[in-house]
Amino acid sequence: MKILVIGATGHIGTCLVPRLVAAGHEVVAMSRGNRKPYSSLPAWEKVETIRIDRKEEDKKGSFGRAVRAVGADVVIDLILFKASSLPQILEALTGRIRQFVFCGTMWVYGPIESAPTYENDFRLPDGEYGIQKAMLESELLSAAHDGRFPATVLHPGHISGPGWAPIGPAGNLNLEVFEKLGLGAGVCLPDLGLATLHHVHADDVAQAFELAVANPRAAIGESFNVVSPRALTLRGFSRAVAGWFSQEARLTYLPWSEWRSTVSEEDAEITWEHIRHCPCGSIEKGRRLLGYNPRYSSLETVREALDWLIRNGKVDLPPLS
Ligand SMILES: NC(=O)c1ccc[n+]([C@@H]2O[C@H](COP(=O)([O-])OP(=O)(O)OC[C@H]3O[C@@H](n4cnc5c(N)ncnc54)[C@H](OP(=O)(O)O)[C@@H]3O)[C@@H](O)[C@H]2O)c1
Repeated sequence: MKILVIGATGHIGTCLVPRLVAAGHEVVAMSRGNRKPYSSLPAWEKVETIRIDRKEEDKKGSFGRAVRAVGADVVIDLILFKASSLPQILEALTGRIRQFVFCGTMWVYGPIESAPTYENDFRLPDGEYGIQKAMLESELLSAAHDGRFPATVLHPGHISGPGWAPIGPAGNLNLEVFEKLGLGAGVCLPDLGLATLHHVHADDVAQAFELAVANPRAAIGESFNVVSPRALTLRGFSRAVAGWFSQEARLTYLPWSEWRSTVSEEDAEITWEHIRHCPCGSIEKGRRLLGYNPRYSSLETVREALDWLIRNGKVDLPPLS
C-alpha cells in the first residue's frame, strides 16, 4: 500500500518508516525537513519525502489538500494535536483512504483510577494536551463507528530509545539522577516514590502502528494502549538503575510540596505532569486484537536509552553494554 506518515522523522517515525518499507509498502514521509531520523537505515533511500509545515498549512486551510494530493491508501498521523485540525483531515480524506491511524497518548485518561488502565475505563483528561487528544480520539472513533471514516487510535506511553533522554526515576528529564544513582549518591523522590511511569520503546510503538495497518479489520474503530508490559514506580525504577552500576539506591522521600522546591521549576513541572497522571496501561487489548508483543520491558527500554546517553557523553557513567 501507499502509506503517508505525517511527522515521519521523530522518535516513532525513525523506527516506523523502515518497518513499513521492509513490509513492502510504498512510504511517503512528511515533515518540515528540520530533523533527521535518529538512525539512517538504507530503507530511507526508498522513501519519498515531502517538506511541509503543518502549522502553516493548517492556518491557511491547505493542509488537507496537501495530504489528499499524496493519494495514500493509509495515512498515519503522528502530529495531530488540536481538535481544530481535524475537519481539514476529515474533509480531505473521507471516502479516499482505507485507514487513518492517529497517534494519541496515555494522557487521555487523565489521572488514572484503575491500574492497569483499559481503553474503555473512565477517563477525565485535565490538561490541554490530554483534553485535545481525547477530543480527537472521540471524534475519530465515532466517525469510524458510523462507518464514515476508518480511524484507529494508538496511545503510547513515555516513548524512549537510543538518541534522546527518557523520563527518569524522578519523573523528569534531568539526567543527573542517573549519575547519582550510578555513583551510589543519595536521591530524594517525591512523596513515597510510589507514582508510576509507563515507558515504551520507540520500536515497540512502531510495531503497534505496523500491526494496526496490517490488521485493519481488528483495528478500525478501536483504540489501543501502546506501552511496555509493566509500569514502574519511581522507587523501583531508581533501585534498578542503581543496581545496573552495582550500587544500592540510597533513597529519601519528601512530600510533593517540599520536594518541588529541591529541583528547578522546569524539572518540578515535568515531574508533576507525570506523577499526577501515574500512567499504568494494560496492553491486553493490543495483544489480543493486533498481536502486539513488545520486545522491551520498561527497564530494558530505559537501559538502552541510558547506554546511548553514556556513550555519547551526556551521562558520566560507565557504559552498560
Ligand atoms: N514523546 C512521547 O513520549 C509521547 C508519548 C505519548 C504520545 N506521544 C505522541 O507521539 C506523537 C509524536 O511522535 P514522536 O515522539 O515521534 O514525535 P517527535 O519525535 O517530536 O517528531 C515529530 C516529527 O514531526 C515533524 N514535525 C514537527 N512539527 C512539524 C510541523 N509543524 N509540520 C510538519 N512536520 C512537523 C518533525 O520533523 P521536523 O521538525 O523536521 O518537521 C518530526 O518528524 C505525538 O502525537 C504525541 O502526542 C508522544
